[in-house]
Amino acid sequence: MEYVSEKMQVVRDTAIELVASYKGLLAMDESTPTCNTRFAQFGIPETAEARRDYRELILTTPGLSKYISGAILYDETIRQQASDGSSLIALAIRSGIIPGIKVDIGTTDLAGFPHEKITMGLDGLRERLTEYAGMGLRFAKWRAVIAVGKGIPTETCIATNMQILAQYAALCQEAGIMPIVEPEVLMDGDHSIMQCFEVTEKVLNTLFSELYKQRIDLAGILLKPNMVLAGKDNIEKNSITEVAEATVNCLLRCVPAAVPGVAFLSGGQDGELATNHLNEMNRLYKSRMPWALTFSFSRAIQLPVLEIWKGKKENIIPAQQELLYRAKGNSDARWGDYDFAVRPERDASIFM
Ligand code: 13P
Repeated sequence: MEYVSEKMQVVRDTAIELVASYKGLLAMDESTPTCNTRFAQFGIPETAEARRDYRELILTTPGLSKYISGAILYDETIRQQASDGSSLIALAIRSGIIPGIKVDIGTTDLAGFPHEKITMGLDGLRERLTEYAGMGLRFAKWRAVIAVGKGIPTETCIATNMQILAQYAALCQEAGIMPIVEPEVLMDGDHSIMQCFEVTEKVLNTLFSELYKQRIDLAGILLKPNMVLAGKDNIEKNSITEVAEATVNCLLRCVPAAVPGVAFLSGGQDGELATNHLNEMNRLYKSRMPWALTFSFSRAIQLPVLEIWKGKKENIIPAQQELLYRAKGNSDARWGDYDFAVRPERDASIFM
């Protein structure tokens, strides 16, 4: 019989709740500079107020919690108030969405290793996690980035980043916060799907070895990986089935069955394609996978929403309808039931 402390049981329960049967996560944790870049693309003012309005639009979308279990927020967001005066954390909770927080503070150059990055944010993390737990945030996210190119990634880059990811996970579990571990093999470059497979396999094996060494309870984490696909500049295009097969095979080789769920990042894929990939994985391989396979997308869900909203009050409802449509599509993809061909007209009935 395994002994699980009360605190760890809470962490485990959060992980299970986040990957509940029809649900996935919404990553809305863009840092201020990233959020501003996306806003600029659609002519939206790059202000704290616009960022607040946009995040309020998301969290007040009627019925969103049917498809979205949890939202990853950003430090600025958790300190902002909605138009009715309640905090955005309270708004998420009221909407039936578990609030979480991105806790890394971005990447910097890995000294001595040109073109490679390391993620920062461990300093003071214990104290920040205590504050976050007190604010009602139940899970966290940390992203490590691994670039693929000539001579990279190096062993050092992978090992250092995975060690840090495991340290972050340990601090989260200590604080009663469920850690999402996100090792992202980037799509930038012209590498093949095979190269992506090899790098992702090495990264995940290193990660799980580090998590083991650092005594992480695997039942109390979620993995947020990239899908296995060719780099953006590779002219060879992979079929949806090829991507599904490569990704599931890679995960089956590396991810222990004790992990309750795998929730993909979209990584810059077109939204529709990311949904189709997830759909195909679940359609073909659901019975072979020991973990739930779901989504934790940012761009693949949000870009079409921003494009409709454009920062204008009169576009809030159509933007929310688009958000709900995207969330529902990905929810369907969890079961291999997504069908792009049956997209409904955007009308009020989607709010039923
Ligand atoms: P994308 O889905 O846009 O890749 O973002 C997910 C995320 O959380 C990146 O850290």
